[in-house]
Amino acid sequence: MTKITIAVIGGGLMGAGIAQVFAAAGHKAAVHEPFDAVRETLIERIRAGLVQVGDNPALADNVSATADLAEAVREAAFITEAAPEKLELKRSIFAKLIELAPADAILASNSSVMPIGSIAAGLPSAERIVGTHWWNPAVLIPLVEVIQGAETSDATVAATMDLLASVGKKPAHVKKDVAGFVANRLQHALWREAIAMVADGICDAKTVDDCVKNSFGLRLPVLGPLENADLVGIELTRDIHRTIIPELNRDSTPSPLLDTMIAAGKLGFKSGEGFQRWSEADQAALRQRLVDHLVAARQAAGE
Ligand SMILES: NC(=O)c1ccc[n+]([C@@H]2O[C@H](COP(=O)([O-])OP(=O)(O)OC[C@H]3O[C@@H](n4cnc5c(N)ncnc54)[C@H](O)[C@@H]3O)[C@@H](O)[C@H]2O)c1
Repeated sequence: MTKITIAVIGGGLMGAGIAQVFAAAGHKAAVHEPFDAVRETLIERIRAGLVQVGDNPALADNVSATADLAEAVREAAFITEAAPEKLELKRSIFAKLIELAPADAILASNSSVMPIGSIAAGLPSAERIVGTHWWNPAVLIPLVEVIQGAETSDATVAATMDLLASVGKKPAHVKKDVAGFVANRLQHALWREAIAMVADGICDAKTVDDCVKNSFGLRLPVLGPLENADLVGIELTRDIHRTIIPELNRDSTPSPLLDTMIAAGKLGFKSGEGFQRWSEADQAALRQRLVDHLVAARQAAGE
């Protein structure tokens, strides 16, 4: 694909990762970050990120950082907003992008959960506003969900999917602007049942996680749930669901167990205990295992 100019709005955790992906693929990426302390470390963070995954650290030269939004987007063909998750802030950024960026630039938001329609509502150019939901760490997780709002054009979606695929991502077209898109809906359906089983005393938290990691978790990288349904057969799937579906948790609010834990100060890593106890060494070891696993998966995929 022809190299284009990318702009990224917000140079925090996700913005830096997104800029790194485009820079590693040879695109120029201009990052707008208003806070000096964050902006001044951006290029070094990206250089370290490139080293971590075995890429040439000199590719960080493709990234520039600026406090000036107009300068960042003036020549951009594709812009990804990765500013804080606040609707009015995002809407004001998009209003400025429409004013400052080229009239044919694609304007994407990395919002975790906001419907892209709520960001684009009432703004001109809604046909070129699209959701691109990257996952953390942006460099190592292949999926980017591409969310089509009611007004997003098919051409915007197609160009976004092509660009993301060309930089090594696995874009997925989400055809309806629903909360949680696809992957977080699936992930949190699993979390709801996991938390309910602990709350109901069926097993403890470590057992839940061990059951996942030692069974279907091992198959998931090569066998998705619907491939699995085809593999075992649709009649068997229906027979299993006749028994199990009525048994599954269907609460429409967060589990009361979470409220109890929060009231008891069991906040997870940050307080040293959540569903399990976590020493600082345990936390560091788990974070390292995760990065090692993701780097190995990326290398195994030849990327
Ligand atoms: N962290 C994750 O795991 C994750 C995953 C997927 C999506 N997201 C989404 O990505 C977005 C960014 O999240 P993050 O984790 O990188 O947050 P972050 O706090 O690390 O980065 C946000 C950056 O935006 C900057 N900023 C603040 N006001 C700004 C403005 N007016 N214009 C431009 N930049 C501004 C901040 O200084 C900060 O550096 C959020 O919408 C978040 O929900 C986060």
